[in-house]
Amino acid sequence: MATDRIHQQFFDRHAPTWDEEENAEKIAALQKVFKSLGQQLSGNILDLGCGTGILVPLVRQFGSDFHLYELDLSLSMIRQNRNRWQTDRELFQINADVHQLPFPLAQFDTLLCFAALPHFANQSVALQEFTRVLKPDGFLVVLHLMSSTILNRYHRLTDPAVARDRLPTVSELAAQLNRLGFAVLRKTEKEDLYLVVAKNTGREQTGFAGK
Ligand SMILES: C[S@@+](CC[C@H](N)C(=O)[O-])C[C@H]1O[C@@H](n2cnc3c(N)ncnc32)[C@H](O)[C@@H]1O
Repeated sequence: MATDRIHQQFFDRHAPTWDEEENAEKIAALQKVFKSLGQQLSGNILDLGCGTGILVPLVRQFGSDFHLYELDLSLSMIRQNRNRWQTDRELFQINADVHQLPFPLAQFDTLLCFAALPHFANQSVALQEFTRVLKPDGFLVVLHLMSSTILNRYHRLTDPAVARDRLPTVSELAAQLNRLGFAVLRKTEKEDLYLVVAKNTGREQTGFAGK
């Protein structure tokens, strides 16, 4: 798949001021969600579309015994992430595309995807990649701090680069994940929260009903 230059350039441009989007209210809302994740925050964790690393302190606060891989298409975001958090024994930053993840099969215990899914140019391909790199029984957490309706309207009005980026409703995403062999454990959508937590069962639904 060709590199998605439009999103890459858009997010490269916004990287230097990206951290200005962080505020106490946003962090408190994320803390509430992360506190409830517990089980999903250990082992190998991959943060897809990580930006400058807003989730790093949350995984450190609520996770245990983890290695966190921060991954983003935008090199500027990854550079900021490295400057901000420094690579160490438990934290790695990687400049890559979610549509072609540079990992072998079944590497991760948890995939985190915060405020990023709508920006992936081909969400079905990305979700298939997520399935490939997740261990059987691994978790996928898709999170936003607003509903899909509010976010989709916001994107339409923001910039041509993201105007057509669309977050499916949690029910649409859950149906797609079921077809890929995930069991959906949590599914919430309201004005200030969009959360899907799903477990990879390793059994993709092919529609074939044979024995
Ligand atoms: C709205 S930002 C969110 C960043 C971060 N999760 C946060 O909340 O601060 C979306 C991120 O997804 C990244 N992104 C977009 N398309 C991507 C792709 N194909 N592969 C990896 N990252 C991508 C962008 O570069 C950007 O950093």
